Amino acid sequence: MNLREVFNIRPEYRALMSALFAELREMHPRFRPDVIKGGLLISAPGARVPFHIDRTDTMLWHLRGRKRVYVYPRGAPVLSEADVEAVLMHPFSDDLPYESAFDKRAQVFDLEPGEVLCWPVHTPHRVTNLEGLNVSMATEYTCHDVRVRNHAMMFNGLIRRRLGLTPSIEDSRGAGLAARAGLGFTARKLKLLPRVPPPAAAPAAGALQHLQTEA
Ligand SMILES: [Fe+2]
Repeated sequence: MNLREVFNIRPEYRALMSALFAELREMHPRFRPDVIKGGLLISAPGARVPFHIDRTDTMLWHLRGRKRVYVYPRGAPVLSEADVEAVLMHPFSDDLPYESAFDKRAQVFDLEPGEVLCWPVHTPHRVTNLEGLNVSMATEYTCHDVRVRNHAMMFNGLIRRRLGLTPSIEDSRGAGLAARAGLGFTARKLKLLPRVPPPAAAPAAGALQHLQTEA
């Protein structure tokens, strides 16, 4: 069960999340998220979240139970830029094609209550609950650089699929990156982005589908 944005809706939870992020800003003055959403994840022992990426930066604040988080490298052969673009252009699905061979490249974290985990945006990950009823707070937040990266990758996705080009976000810097982001933003607003199928098949029975809202 995902009580999406409960930390934005309920005043007592909103105060808690605001205090947390105020502390983070104090510790890191350049940390300036402009949209912060907080949800409460409640799931059974053994529940799984399939292999996926998030469209925003995420922090997973674990509160109860034990869970194992597999965090994979953000690049080939685990992840292609074309798959990231497909997620960004899909209205809701964030799941990616998974192969068990990827696991030898994963960092594995067993989270206990009171621990928090985060990773760079678009880093692939999956989760398996180990023990007990699991309760976590997931905060999704967007900073300017992530918004620029997402829109630049939408533009790359457009020209990859419409013109057969092979752009890479890693080759874009400064004004070139900003121009791509501007074009991606415009294409999104004008609904010019191609309709893409979900990057991965529907999750197996028993798995929790990971769905996110747009940043
Ligand atoms: Fe996630």
